[in-house]
Amino acid sequence: MASLFDPLTVGAMELPNRLVMAPLTRNRSRGTVPGDLAVEYYAQRASAGLIITEGSQPSARGQGYLDTPGFHSDEQLAGWRRVADAVHGKGGRIVAQLMHAGRIAHPDNTGGQEIIAPSPIPAPGEMVTADGSKPHPEPRELRTEEMPDVVAEFVTAARNAVDAGLDGVEVHGANGYLLHQFLSPASNQRTDEYGGSPLNRARLVVEVVRAVADEIGADRVGLRLSPAHNIQGCDETDPGDVEATYTAVVAGIADLGLAYLSVLAQPRLDLVQRLRKDFGGPFLANDGFGVVTTKATAQALLDEDAADGVVVGRPFLANPDLVRRWELDAELNEPNPATFYGGGAEGYTDYPFLDG
Ligand SMILES: Cc1cc2nc3c(=O)[nH]c(=O)nc-3n(C[C@H](O)[C@H](O)[C@H](O)COP(=O)(O)O)c2cc1C
Repeated sequence: MASLFDPLTVGAMELPNRLVMAPLTRNRSRGTVPGDLAVEYYAQRASAGLIITEGSQPSARGQGYLDTPGFHSDEQLAGWRRVADAVHGKGGRIVAQLMHAGRIAHPDNTGGQEIIAPSPIPAPGEMVTADGSKPHPEPRELRTEEMPDVVAEFVTAARNAVDAGLDGVEVHGANGYLLHQFLSPASNQRTDEYGGSPLNRARLVVEVVRAVADEIGADRVGLRLSPAHNIQGCDETDPGDVEATYTAVVAGIADLGLAYLSVLAQPRLDLVQRLRKDFGGPFLANDGFGVVTTKATAQALLDEDAADGVVVGRPFLANPDLVRRWELDAELNEPNPATFYGGGAEGYTDYPFLDG
C-alpha cells in the first residue's frame, strides 16, 4: 500500500511524494506577468511532489479573470523562468496549467479581446472586473476552420512553458472553461464535427492534448477533467452522455502515454475508476470544492487504490510546508478565503512555515 510520502513516477518527472499542489488561481499577476511574489509563493511550496501552476492563459484571448498570468508574451515568460528557477533551486518540480477561459471572460479584463466559445450562449453569472461584477457577455461561436488556431494557442504556450524552464504542462479540460465548454452539451450546441455526439464534443480536447504532446513530449503533459461537475453552465446531467463523452476523451489520448490524468470528481465513482483504467497511466484525484482535502481523506484514496497521487488545494495554499506538516501530523495554518483571489502578500506568501 502506498503512502502519501512515497515517491511516484509521473511521465518524465520523479515525484518524491504523492502530494500534488492543485492549480489555484490567485489573481496576483499584475499585467498578466508573474512577479516577485509569485516567485516566492511557488518556491515556498517546492516540497510538494509536483506543483501545478494556477490556471494560466495560453493566449491573450484565453484570459478570463483579472490579473491571471499568461504563457504568451516575453515578459510573462521571463517571469515564469524566475518562478521555475526558484522552484528547481529548492528541489521542486512545476508544470503550467494551460487554461483557456472561453466564455468565462470579459473584454474589460483582457483589453477588449473577443470572447469565443463553442456556441453563442453566455455563461450564467457574472465576471469580476476592475469596475465591479458584470454579466458574462454573449460569446462568438468559433468557426470550424478556426479550431486549428485554438489548438495552436495551446501548442505555442506549452512550448513557451517548457522553454521557460517549467517541467511540463497540464491541459485544463475541467471546471467550465473553454475545453469543458466543448464537452458539455449545454454549452456546446454546434452542428459541425465539434458538436452533437459525445465523440464530436470530445474532439477538441483530444486534438489539443495530442498536439501538445507532439510538441513537448507526452511524458511532460497531463490533462485535468471534471466529469459531471455541473459548473459555470457546463451542465452534464445525463449519466449515459457523460460516460460516453469522457470515455471518448480518454480513448482518444490513452495511446499517448501522458504523464498523468487528473480528475476532479468523487474518485470512488465507477466512471472515475473506469477513466483511470482506460487511461492506464498515473492517476491523480481530487474530490472537488465541497470539502477541503485532509491528510486522512488523501491517504484513504491511496489505501483504497483509488488513485496514485492526490491533488491538494487549500491546504497547500495555507501551508507552504504541507508535506512536512502532514508527515509530522503537525498543526496546520487555516486558509483565509478572503485573500484567495487577488491582493498582495497577505494570504499569499505570509502563511508561516512550521519553524516560523
Ligand atoms: C482559490 C482557488 C483557486 C482555484 N483555481 C483553480 C484553477 O486555476 N484551476 C483548476 O483547475 N482548479 C482550481 N481550483 C480548484 C482546486 O484545484 C481544487 O480542485 C479544489 O480547491 C478542491 O481541492 P481542496 O479541497 O484540496 O482545496 C481552485 C480552488 C481554489 C480554492
